[in-house]
Formats: sequence, structure tokens, C-alpha cells
Amino acid sequence: MKYEPSLLEIFLTRLSFLLYSKSVYRAFADRLPLNGKEQVLDFGCGMGTVAYYLAKRLPYGHLTCMDISQRWLKVCRKTLRSHGNIAYRQSESPMFGKESFDLVYCHFVLHDISESELRDIIHALAESLKPGGVLVFREPLRERGKIGVIKHLIEQNSLFLKESRITDIPLLGNALESVYIK
Ligand SMILES: C[S@@+](CC[C@H](N)C(=O)[O-])C[C@H]1O[C@@H](n2cnc3c(N)ncnc32)[C@H](O)[C@@H]1O
Repeated sequence: MKYEPSLLEIFLTRLSFLLYSKSVYRAFADRLPLNGKEQVLDFGCGMGTVAYYLAKRLPYGHLTCMDISQRWLKVCRKTLRSHGNIAYRQSESPMFGKESFDLVYCHFVLHDISESELRDIIHALAESLKPGGVLVFREPLRERGKIGVIKHLIEQNSLFLKESRITDIPLLGNALESVYIK
């Protein structure tokens, strides 16, 4: 489903990035397992809230920021303008070569996607991971039903749960963060 944010939504997201960037987005980016040389995919990057911090941890690697929305990608380019090792892709379903990435993360993206679309998206994300690669998602815990579907689909694609944690996000409440290994 095509979707573009309103100017108000972009403004409010920028405001929340200013207010909560360290406690929410940087904390998540800092926990992602990286040594600085990886190929990474940010699926549903939005304005680049997590990518802004992740790119700093990737001096010898490469980050692909992907979003369904042309408008979010434009804002994302601005957020990340000081970084060179980034590619921007606009699409609603990931179409990458098999085993392209060491790490794929989805930050507050998957719970909004329909179950039928999720089936194809999670399959494609799993295929795009190298053996031993890592998939991380963080989704609001109130979306328990959708989280159950997401976990089931990830496990159906032969990824194994390594760890999970619950974090408190200002305004949004608790979120589940799970790390899977291929
Ligand atoms: C709630 S925002 C989260 C953005 C960012 N990850 C963050 O945490 O700030 C969800 C994002 O997912 C994107 N999105 C939704 N469905 C998508 C799809 N099928 N493919 C790629 N991006 C999608 C939206 O355009 C939006 O930018």
C-alpha cells in the first residue's frame, strides 16, 4: 500500500527525534551487533532516526536505507547528508540479491504491514541475509497479535531467536526488541 507522510507528520517526527534521539534511537543503534565493516539494511528507514547513529558505527561498511515513501527518503537523505557510505532505495518489498547483508533491522515498521505482505517481506529479508547474518526488529508491545505473526514468519524462514528485551519508549510505551540469527 502506497503511503506518503503529511508535512505535520514529518514535523512531529523531527520533533520526537530531537527530544528522544539518544534514549530511543541511539540506544537501539548502539545495541546492534557491529564491528564496523558490515553490509547493513535499514528496512523502513523513515527520516533516518536509527540510521543517523548506525552510520557512525559503520566506517568501513555500507548502509542501505529503504522505504516505501519517496518523501521519507528525501528527509532521510537530509538527516544523513554528512555520511557517504549510504544507498537509498524506494520500494515496498525488498528485492536484493541472496545473502547481501550481514545485518537487517526494522525499527517500528513491521507491525503496520498487513499479514499477507509480511509473508513476502520477511521471506525476502531472510533471503537477503548472509549465513550467520542478524535480523533485528523493534515493535510496540501493544501489537501483540502482529508480533506473534512476525515471530512465526521469521522462524518459518529458519532464523533462530538469540535474544529479546523489552524497552520503554516515551509516548509509545513498551516495545519488544528481538534479535534473530540465520
Ligand atoms: C513508524 S515509521 C518508522 C521509521 C523509522 N524506522 C523510525 O523508527 O523512525 C514506519 C516506516 O516504514 C515505512 N514502510 C511501511 N511499509 C513499508 C514497506 N512495505 N516497505 C518499506 N517501507 C515501509 C514507512 O514509510 C515509514 O517510513
